[in-house]
Amino acid sequence: MLRLIRIFGILLFGVFLIMMCTSETVLHPDFTITDKMLNEYIKEFPHPDITEKILANPKEFLESIKAVIALPPEFLFLVDKQHSLGEAYEPEDLENLQHYSIKTTKKSLTLRSVILDDLTTMIDAAKKENIDLVIASAYRSYTYQAQVYGYWVKQLGEEQADRESAKPGHSQHQLGTTLDFYPIDDSFAQTDESEWLLMHASDYGFSLSYPEGYEDVTGYKYEPWHYRYVGKETTQMIDSYFMGIQQFFLEFYSGYADFFKTHLKEKT
Ligand code: DAL
Ligand code: ZN
Repeated sequence: MLRLIRIFGILLFGVFLIMMCTSETVLHPDFTITDKMLNEYIKEFPHPDITEKILANPKEFLESIKAVIALPPEFLFLVDKQHSLGEAYEPEDLENLQHYSIKTTKKSLTLRSVILDDLTTMIDAAKKENIDLVIASAYRSYTYQAQVYGYWVKQLGEEQADRESAKPGHSQHQLGTTLDFYPIDDSFAQTDESEWLLMHASDYGFSLSYPEGYEDVTGYKYEPWHYRYVGKETTQMIDSYFMGIQQFFLEFYSGYADFFKTHLKEKT
């Protein structure tokens, strides 16, 4: 009898050991994602240095992505040479910047009101350090972008224009969350304003869309003046996991957001 109990005990312990070895622990209490699932799912992302970073800190990553998922989805739309917003896309909460203490080069400039608190906070913070941020371009409709692109094609020819100007539907400016600081030319890179923005814009949720040395990734030449609002939660994630490159993050998010959303536990 004693022998039977002992054998049963050993068997039970064996089963327990096997269960311990094969069971997968969930990485974050708010997601039903295990280490193995995350590994399997994101391994196809074509930037191994980024996936490595995510897999090295999976719990922190899920905590950050949870905050990003809660943002308005348009903040994170992938709009690039391959992805268009379509002709009809127009934000509903556009506001004229004249109503705010924001310096502009034109009276007609508008942006989405949902980003204006962070924008004015950033401009005021810059002002305290004698940095004068002036906005030269903001929301552009599909039709207006068609005119802008057409102008550059006439000036530079199609090949060069495509390195500097987006075709209609493909401009981040159509989102109403993207702006160009003055002056919109290469001299901006040498200004204190540009230096300040490179250091601080992400603290306010603004991200440089076309950084220097990444034309093969973004499709566009360096545009030191062009910033897109993606939210502070997102700029933090871009800096921590995506090498500070907005395009890498937006490509990742457009491919994997549904996986994270599907495995996010419902709030009760
Ligand atoms: N200059 C950027 C690429 C645009 O036209 O949206
Ligand atoms: Zn721009």
